[in-house]
Amino acid sequence: MNWAALLDDLRAQRRAIGAFNAILIEHAEAVVAGAEHSGLPVVLQISQNAVRYHGSLAPFALACLRLAENATVPVLVHLDHIEDEELIREGLDLGITSVMFDAAALPYAENVARTKAVVERCHAAGCRVEAELGEIGGKDGAHAPGVRTDPGEAAEFVAATGVDSLAVAVGSSHAMADRSAVLDEELIAALAHSVPVPLVLHGSSGVPDEGLRGAVASGIVKVNIGTRLNQVLTEAVRSTLGTHTALTDPRRYLAPGRDAVRNEVSRLLTLLAK
Ligand code: G3H
Ligand code: ZN
Repeated sequence: MNWAALLDDLRAQRRAIGAFNAILIEHAEAVVAGAEHSGLPVVLQISQNAVRYHGSLAPFALACLRLAENATVPVLVHLDHIEDEELIREGLDLGITSVMFDAAALPYAENVARTKAVVERCHAAGCRVEAELGEIGGKDGAHAPGVRTDPGEAAEFVAATGVDSLAVAVGSSHAMADRSAVLDEELIAALAHSVPVPLVLHGSSGVPDEGLRGAVASGIVKVNIGTRLNQVLTEAVRSTLGTHTALTDPRRYLAPGRDAVRNEVSRLLTLLAK
C-alpha cells in the first residue's frame, strides 16, 4: 500500500482517514473489523503509554502487524506519541513503517533538531514520521489547552525537519469525556494552505460529528481517536456485567465491548471519508 499517495489523495479530496488507539488486543481486532465492515483503510495506533502499560512493545506490536497483514482492507500500524527514541528504534526493527515522534513539549529549536534526526533515521528505514507543533492539551492531564499552531511556524517546521505529516493544535484537547470541543476551522484552513503535508487532528474524541466534518472540510487528513473507543467499550462491558452479574469468563463480557468498538470505528470511518 502506498500510504503517502493515499494521504495525498485524501488531502486533495478534502476527505480523511481515521486513526484509532488500541490498548488491548480487543481494541485492535475491533479497529480492523470496523475498517473491514466499512470497506475503508484505517490507521491502527499504539501509543507510548500503551507500550508502558504492557511493559514492552514487541508482543502487542507484532500482534497488530499480523492483524494488519491479514486484513481485507489496508491497515497502517503506527506508533503514537513516542517520546522515547529507543522505542522508535525497536519499532523499526519490528517492521513498523509509521511513527509519531512527540517532542512538542520541548522548546521550538530543540523540537526541530530532535525531530529532524528522527526523520533521517526513519526515512532511511522506510518509515514515515508525524510530528507535533503547538502542544495539544490534555495528555497525561498535564498540558494547558488553548494553545494554537501558527501557520508560518508550521510551514517552517515542516521544511526544517522533513516530516511527512503534522499534528496541529486547533482547539481539541486529549482525553475529553464529552464531545464539546469547538475547533478553529479558519486556522485549520490557513494551516492547510501553508503546510505542504497532511494535517493531523489529535484529541478528536472531544469533537462532535459536525465538528469532525468541518475539520475535514477545512483540511484535516488524519483524525486520531482514542478515548471515544474506551467509552463505548467500557459502557458495553459495564452493561453486560450489570445484567449478568455471575459472569467470570472475560470472553463473555469483552465480546460485547469489542462489537461496540467495531461499530463505532465503522461509523466514524464512514463519516470521515464522506
Ligand atoms: O493520539 C491520540 C489521539 O490524539 C487520541 O485522543 O483520546 O482524546 O481521542 P483522544
Ligand atoms: Zn494525540
